[in-house]
Amino acid sequence: MVKFMNIPLVDLKANYNSIKKEIDDAIHEVIDNTSFIMGKYLKNFEDNFAKFAHAKHVIGCSSGTTAVHLALIGAELNKGDEVITVPNTFIATTECISYIGCKIKFVDVDEDTSLIDIDMLEKSINQKTKAIIVVHLYGQMPDMKRIREIADEHGIFVIEDSAQAHAAEWDSNQPGYYGDIASYSFFPAKNLGCFGDGGAIVTNNDEIAEKMRLLVNHGRTEKYEHKIEGYNYRLDALQAAILNAKLPHLNKWTDQRRKHAKYYDNNLPENIELPIEKEHAKHVYYMYEIRVKKRNELMQYLKENGVNTGIHYPIPLHLQPAYEKLEHKKGDFPISEKLADEILSIPIYPELSKEQLDYIIENIKVFYNK
Ligand SMILES: Cc1ncc(COP(=O)(O)O)c(C=O)c1O
Repeated sequence: MVKFMNIPLVDLKANYNSIKKEIDDAIHEVIDNTSFIMGKYLKNFEDNFAKFAHAKHVIGCSSGTTAVHLALIGAELNKGDEVITVPNTFIATTECISYIGCKIKFVDVDEDTSLIDIDMLEKSINQKTKAIIVVHLYGQMPDMKRIREIADEHGIFVIEDSAQAHAAEWDSNQPGYYGDIASYSFFPAKNLGCFGDGGAIVTNNDEIAEKMRLLVNHGRTEKYEHKIEGYNYRLDALQAAILNAKLPHLNKWTDQRRKHAKYYDNNLPENIELPIEKEHAKHVYYMYEIRVKKRNELMQYLKENGVNTGIHYPIPLHLQPAYEKLEHKKGDFPISEKLADEILSIPIYPELSKEQLDYIIENIKVFYNK
């Protein structure tokens, strides 16, 4: 066995160091200009991200959570309407459904991809279903073409929670193409992350875009003229400038993640279930999620040997104390529950070296041969 290495699950420092000067310059420029709120740094990023995502409109906002909240407001739902989503996501997805007084309706996921089971989605739609939040978990999109067709048939609004899916594709289209709105998070550990909280809305709908622009900034049309009541959900200029410095590197970082994933696919031992990239999908591996037996023991063994891992997510939302009110029980969403017991995220960040990847693989092999 090679000598001990300490490998984090995500290495923000390595990422910063790889483009330190570009980021430092961008930060200093904003400070020199004391242009902290709205203004050209935000506009530049919104324009560049729109170009990147092949979308008509990008509206920066303060986090991935506020992005989902804004998207749901954009859906113009009524109190008590049902919004379908999955139980194996971060709670931000469902919190926002509650913010607007709607009802969370869970649909279980496909065992191969951990993404929404589209057959079950179709069967779950009823008169009260008014929106779907499709979560592009770990960086992969489900068959968005089919979801769009189903939604159109029933007049349902589609939101793509793309917090984990920057640069992901279905049939060469990024989030925001099939959905009415895609929401993004730029939390530091995301594939495109800023140095604090940040998010964005992507849409090709002019009317929705105009409404989102009002909502993020107190409903302002002029400095002290307010067409509607809104929020202070702005993306600040420092974060926008950092994101703008990082954006030109996103394709390269995505390629590196995909290359690491291939390397794991080809070299991890056979008793491990690997993530499946579906035909038509471009998986961007926010997380490389394996499924294993003796998960907690493996996690502990890897930690002792310097390899940090994570579980995304250990308790499905329907079993969270926060959702006792929904009166679900164990067994209601068996695939999500099974996944929660078996999944393990291993490091996949772009700056990983071949030596680090080999070290991780070797340690996993040694654990199972013990
Ligand atoms: C699927 C999903 N949705 C929404 C969010 C919320 O994003 P933020 O932390 O930027 O508010 C996250 C963040 O982890 C997420 O993973």
